[in-house]
Order: sequence, then C-alpha cells, then structure tokens
Amino acid sequence: MPAVSLSSANHQPTQNFEVRPFSAAVGAEIVGLDLSRPLNDADFARVHQAHLDYNVVVFRDQRITPQQQIDFSRRFGVLQIHVLKQFLLANHPEIFIISNIKENGQPIGLGDAGKFWHSDLSYKEFPSLGSMLYAQELPEEGGDTLFASQQLAFETLPAELRQAIDGKRAAHSYTARYADEVFAGIRRPTLTEAQLAEVKAVVHPVVRTHPETGRRGLFVNENFTTHILDVPEDESRQILAELYAHSAKPEFIYRHQWQDGDMVFWDNRALIHLATGCPSHLRRRMHRTTIQGDVPF
Ligand code: SIN
Repeated sequence: MPAVSLSSANHQPTQNFEVRPFSAAVGAEIVGLDLSRPLNDADFARVHQAHLDYNVVVFRDQRITPQQQIDFSRRFGVLQIHVLKQFLLANHPEIFIISNIKENGQPIGLGDAGKFWHSDLSYKEFPSLGSMLYAQELPEEGGDTLFASQQLAFETLPAELRQAIDGKRAAHSYTARYADEVFAGIRRPTLTEAQLAEVKAVVHPVVRTHPETGRRGLFVNENFTTHILDVPEDESRQILAELYAHSAKPEFIYRHQWQDGDMVFWDNRALIHLATGCPSHLRRRMHRTTIQGDVPF
C-alpha cells in the first residue's frame, strides 16, 4: 500500500468541490478545490478516491507555487528525483521541468518528453505511483496529453495474447529507445556514468495488480520495455508489438487538452500516456512531480 498520509492540516475547513467524470474511458475533473490551501483529511480522502476511480484527475484553475505542488504531491508518498538533474527546478529538485523552451541557447527542460507511450519511471525498481503535471506556459495549438487505460486493455485482450503473457516478466530500461529517439530527431542528453548507474535495467511482471484496487492491467510500454523474458527474441518482439497495438486503442483513451491553471494527476499503475507535442515555434512549459509507488506484482 502507498504511504498516503493523513495530515496536520485537519483543522482546515472542508472545501466545496465537485468531481465530474469525463465521458472517456478514464478521467474526471475536480472543480472548486484550491490546492494552495492544505487539504483536510476528508477532502484529501475524496481526491484520493477520485484518483483510484478515474485514474486521471484534472484540478482546474490552480494558482500554486512549486512548494505547494511538492507538499500536495507528498501527501501521496515519497517523491522521486529524475535522473536528468539538469532539468530539475532550481531549489526544488522534486520538480522536473518538461519544456521545449531554450534560454541562452540551452534547453530549460526535457523537450519532446513522452513522445512514445509510457508509464513514468517503469524502468525503476519502484516505478511511479502517479505523476502531477502542472501547466506553466501553454502553446496556442497542440500540446495535448493522451492517457490509455491498461486495465481496460488487459480486460479486453484476445484470449491467445492473454495466454502468451500469462506469468511472464519483462525488462525495462530508461535508455531502451534512446538511439531511436535521437534517430527520430528527438533531443536526448548524453548520460554520464553516474546517471547510467542510477537507471540500471529492471524486471517487472507484464501484467500487474493495482496495489490499492486489486484490478489487473498491462504493464509494458513502447518507451521503456526492452523484451519479455524466457521467450525467443522474435517471439518477444511479436508479442510486444501486438500488446502495444492493442493497448492504445481509441476506446481506452482520454485526451487532455490543457487549459490555463490545470494540474493533472494520473495513475502510472493503471495507465500509459503520450505527449502529442506542439509546433516547435510555440512555447510549452510544465512542472512535474513524480510519486514513488510499490514494486509491481
Ligand atoms: C510526461 O510524459 O510526463 C510528459 C507529458 C506531457 O508533457 O504532456
């Protein structure tokens, strides 16, 4: 179970907010909640439940500082610090900057982050429970984020494919697509020896059980999964290709079109996500916190 924490903010008045599910497979918006104020335990419990029920929650109209984003994220668990230290916010290393903006010729954040479907930090022994992405500067066009339910994907898997992955495990590596990404014109910083040591390949089950809801879902992704263990290489490649084709079907997807003030909190144990990108002359800057989850089982 994650270390969801009750807080010393329990004296705070209850806020009057609504949870409004989207019509897509996953997702709900939370309207009327002010995250600049610490949440009392009852409000926090409602948010926590909405996150479990809908997998993506969109907090509208937020005006919060980096420290407030960090404090709220910490209510759900320990925060993870990204391996690309050059893109951590100054004085707030818990915040990872995702941006296509350059200042003095240097990128201020990871541009082109999330161009392949993935679950954040699936390449770690303790992959992420969830991520909070807070819009700082949005392009006039594009920049959407797609989320696909891997629980629906698993539940609708053809019987043959389900059988092929029964009890199987797969390896994940941060650098799995590095060469392809650079080849595709996506900027990727060269990693130092110390950074490479931080992201050694790990093995996780191909199907994981959500530690809080018990629902099962696929846990492989085209960004970080390298191969399925204990099957010939070509068979692994074939199975993964079929899983990826199935896992991003339109009926499993919620498309988030960002609005000013949005902070989106998703469940990496239940979803994969993809950044669609925006025209390169438009500016996009986001702040992400990443909460550590359990070892998948
Ligand atoms: C990510 O993969 O965390 C980034 C998503 C986005 O920038 O829309």
